[in-house]
Amino acid sequence: MSLSQQNNAYEKGGRIALPCVTESSCLESVKIAIDTGYRHIDGAFVYYNEHEVGQAIREKIAEGRIKREDIFYCGKLWNTCHPPELVRPTLEKTLKILQLDYVDLYIIELPMAFKPGEAIYPKDENGKFIYHETDLCATWEAMEACKDAGLAKSIGVSNFNRRQLEMILNKPGLKYKPVSNQVECHPYFTQPKLLEFCRQHDIVIVGYSPLGTSRDESWVNVSSPPLLKDPVLNAIGKKYNKTAAQVALRFSIQRGVVVIPKSFNPQRIRENFQIFDFSLTEKEMKEIEALNKNVRYVELLM
Ligand code: A2P
Repeated sequence: MSLSQQNNAYEKGGRIALPCVTESSCLESVKIAIDTGYRHIDGAFVYYNEHEVGQAIREKIAEGRIKREDIFYCGKLWNTCHPPELVRPTLEKTLKILQLDYVDLYIIELPMAFKPGEAIYPKDENGKFIYHETDLCATWEAMEACKDAGLAKSIGVSNFNRRQLEMILNKPGLKYKPVSNQVECHPYFTQPKLLEFCRQHDIVIVGYSPLGTSRDESWVNVSSPPLLKDPVLNAIGKKYNKTAAQVALRFSIQRGVVVIPKSFNPQRIRENFQIFDFSLTEKEMKEIEALNKNVRYVELLM
């Protein structure tokens, strides 16, 4: 089972990826994921582990297991780096940490900007975030220049709503439109309107937290019940001898949403990849769609 790779843009349809977040087991996890067949790796400067991701990729290339062009690495422009003159140097810093020549996809992580500087989460004396006025269209032009320079094969966005997407799409002189928009997406938050809008504009939705994320109260809205305990997902899973997690992932890829399940557990990394040997019926897809609660786990209160 292998995933096709395309360096210039996401293909239509489901893809699976391994987002990397802060933890020292990242190196091992990425190597296991590559051995399992994952090719799309979702990273970010603010996950502080791009050095491990880069090392894992380079080790697997050195082993002869993969070639660089087999990997689809997504990096992200953080909120403090939106001023156009910071965009290319920020990407160059990421490439230096990764020790790679290019990223396959570079995305604006969030549509709002923080004050540029060393602090990743700049706050004032009252503990309030210090925002920064920037022009998203100017940031986008700097992203386009990164693509022209060959530092990013494709460019996209994340956490953009329809209005913010339209601002880019309607920008006079637009050179490249975003190939993707990475947003929270799973059976409890199905994003039907945004999905339709993005479909119409040929923008791929990449769904983060496709398993309903963790139950870490410091950043997760735990008032929404745990997705993987859902009776419908579990009942459908029983029919196919699959877990609720596999059903949730299958649901997303069957509706054309790319999924980036996160796991540091080797068994679950493998489990999350075993979703290409069954398919959900139309009735099951509708049943799962009906689970939508329109509630986010990741509220991004900033
Ligand atoms: P772990 O890293 O211990 O596997 P999301 O991808 O929606 O953000 O969810 C990530 C969370 O789900 C993590 O806490 C991860 O824990 C857990 N997880 C990942 N895969 C599975 C799975 N197949 N079954 C149950 N929990 C999982």
